[in-house]
Amino acid sequence: MLLKAIIAVVLVTGTLSHSNIHGTYYFSCQHGPAECKGNVYQSCALSQNQGDRKNVEFVNCIMRRNPDHFVNVEKCARKHEFNIGKIRNCSRGVEGSELLAQNGEKTLQLEPVLSFVPTIIYNDVYSNQDHMQSLKDFAAVVCSKIEGDKPEICANKRLPRTSWGFFEIF
Ligand SMILES: *[C@@H]1O[C@H](CO)[C@@H](O)[C@H](O)[C@H]1NC(C)=O
Repeated sequence: MLLKAIIAVVLVTGTLSHSNIHGTYYFSCQHGPAECKGNVYQSCALSQNQGDRKNVEFVNCIMRRNPDHFVNVEKCARKHEFNIGKIRNCSRGVEGSELLAQNGEKTLQLEPVLSFVPTIIYNDVYSNQDHMQSLKDFAAVVCSKIEGDKPEICANKRLPRTSWGFFEIF
């Protein structure tokens, strides 16, 4: 049994803020318009519902490159068998804006507000400790959440220590 057989990964690519004024969407992202553009591409790709594994591989692929350059989206889409024509059409039309706005809503609903990417949430509830530990050893935290029989990878997993202090301000 593999960890991926147990967990479902939901990736959300959001915005800092968004608005719709007279039918036109406006977005604001932490690193500017290029980041929003990249987030539209990702939102469009993830909406193809290719499954957890492909979604994670696609996002990993694109985050290692410049995610707002369409040529990189094309490369990663081809590699991981996403429909690039659909991503192109989606990102140029209202569909891409609607998807990003929906994802932006999810981001804004986070409690406390999103302050770090990636923010890692289990079972829809944010825990600072889970998040911090996940950044160090994601598998260990997933293992700690599994009740009953655990997969082999969990045998020698211990939850990592995290440094406190700075993050307590959140
Ligand atoms: C993209 O849009 C064009 C123009 O509307 C259409 O002809 C084409 O079939 C679309 N491609 C995909 C993959 O949906």
